[in-house]
Amino acid sequence: MRLSRRDMFKLGGLAAVGAAGLAIPLGNTVSGSSASLLPTSKLPRPYQAAFSRLEVLSPVIGGDAQGPIHYYDITAKTGAAGIVPGMQTPVLGYDGLVPAKRIDVEQGTRIVMTMHNKLPQTHPTFGTPMPISTHLHGSASLPQYDGYASDITIPGQKKIYQYPNFQAARTLWYHDHGVHYTAQNAYSGLASQYHMHDPQERALLPQGEFDVAITLSDMMFAANGSQLYDDRAHSGLWGDVILVNGRPWPVMKVKKRIYRFRFLNASLSRSYRPVTSPAAPMYVVATDGGLMPKSQNVTQWRHGSAERYEVLIDFSKFNTGQRIELKNLSNPNNRDYDNTNKIMAFDVVDDAFDKNDPTALVIPQTLNPGNEVMALTQTSTMKIRNIRVERDDTTNEWNLNGETWHDVVDSGYKKVLANPELGDTEIWDIENKSGGWFHPVHIHLIDFKILNRNGRAPFAWELGPKDVVYVGEGEKVRLIMKFGPHRGKYMVHCHNLPHEDHDMMHQFSVGLNNGEIDHNDPIDADPPKDDSA
Ligand code: C2O
Ligand code: CU
Repeated sequence: MRLSRRDMFKLGGLAAVGAAGLAIPLGNTVSGSSASLLPTSKLPRPYQAAFSRLEVLSPVIGGDAQGPIHYYDITAKTGAAGIVPGMQTPVLGYDGLVPAKRIDVEQGTRIVMTMHNKLPQTHPTFGTPMPISTHLHGSASLPQYDGYASDITIPGQKKIYQYPNFQAARTLWYHDHGVHYTAQNAYSGLASQYHMHDPQERALLPQGEFDVAITLSDMMFAANGSQLYDDRAHSGLWGDVILVNGRPWPVMKVKKRIYRFRFLNASLSRSYRPVTSPAAPMYVVATDGGLMPKSQNVTQWRHGSAERYEVLIDFSKFNTGQRIELKNLSNPNNRDYDNTNKIMAFDVVDDAFDKNDPTALVIPQTLNPGNEVMALTQTSTMKIRNIRVERDDTTNEWNLNGETWHDVVDSGYKKVLANPELGDTEIWDIENKSGGWFHPVHIHLIDFKILNRNGRAPFAWELGPKDVVYVGEGEKVRLIMKFGPHRGKYMVHCHNLPHEDHDMMHQFSVGLNNGEIDHNDPIDADPPKDDSA
């Protein structure tokens, strides 16, 4: 018996059908040919689409006595995207666009961003409610501007966010963080990159045409081209179509020089292990929090949701017309399909470039040896916190030390996982005892250094400042971090978004003593406003 894709989808947890028609039981490495219900003739195929760059939003430029301010006015609304050839996919987008435009800013320029919620009351495809909260991931924003999940902006409201941009240059991203529906909202398009530049990074790394944003995501489609959402009892969503900046498995033309790629994994759940074929020289130069102390030569790297890796790839030794594929070796506990082992391809062209550009043909070795986060070291007096990432099989909910965001809400937002003083440095041990799941854990506000994983050195690609750590199967990861520069309450959660939404999210407070009034309360300090005019 040969089951149709529709049958496979309906069978959900059981269904994956091999070529011979044999049902493969659900296991650690389940794979099937596809998850989409599109007719085979419509299914996007690898290396047919042209690579497309993220467009950049233009600000309104202003300022005050403290310096320049860039103003953005963005509307979350519905739109349509041409992802499947010949079809339109209903999406949610910032200004209705998928992919949404990116924001570029120089360190020292503050940003004021007005976010309007002009979404319908319910999601056009999934029927889920549409309150939003916008998080700038990678920014030390004040709590009331940090996209606190329960600080929601409902349809018909707007919220004015303030972003300080005083930190070191880095690849950030802004995405929805609305409580319990972050997964659907981000999956439908409410996410894009945000690049902060500074003079140090400008002098060391490729710029402009050679500084390329790469947002990875995965999707699956219904027969009519709309998105399918199936998070398999909140374990995760694994699409069969890999998108790069919203295009399926695109092909990019590259000149014979070094490029800087800012890889962001914006997939809800899928982790990647990118590798080039034939092998191209690759150097990781920056992580979530910006430049690493030294560049790290890699042949592949493990990339969980929300992590950012800036990678230099050197195409200078290839021949005109050669194709270099960026493949995906995947990792345990993903669900892989026929083409999820591919990401994109680079076709080498002989076009001219400026050979005097110092970043064109030389890989910088020393980057940011003075990084304060990477200089942190453990001392015997530091507080050590133990955080277990777990699943409660009776409720199908995920938790941190047995507690969920529901528990935080029920406490009147008082319950915290940790309460360091402003300026404290702490050790956090995050442990995943399971063999069945991996969790990319994100801590808001701060950058941390990974001290070790199961007592061994971190991977080469992790030797830089981070804000998300991959806590793999049976892994215990030791982190060190200094709390500041703001007081207040911030979230910590798994960035597998179905895990986050159900309900693997908690919070910590910085410098708040019992009973003290929180002037930066994430919900009350600067709430959204009516936007009906
Ligand atoms: Cu990218 Cu709390 O999230
Ligand atoms: Cu998780």
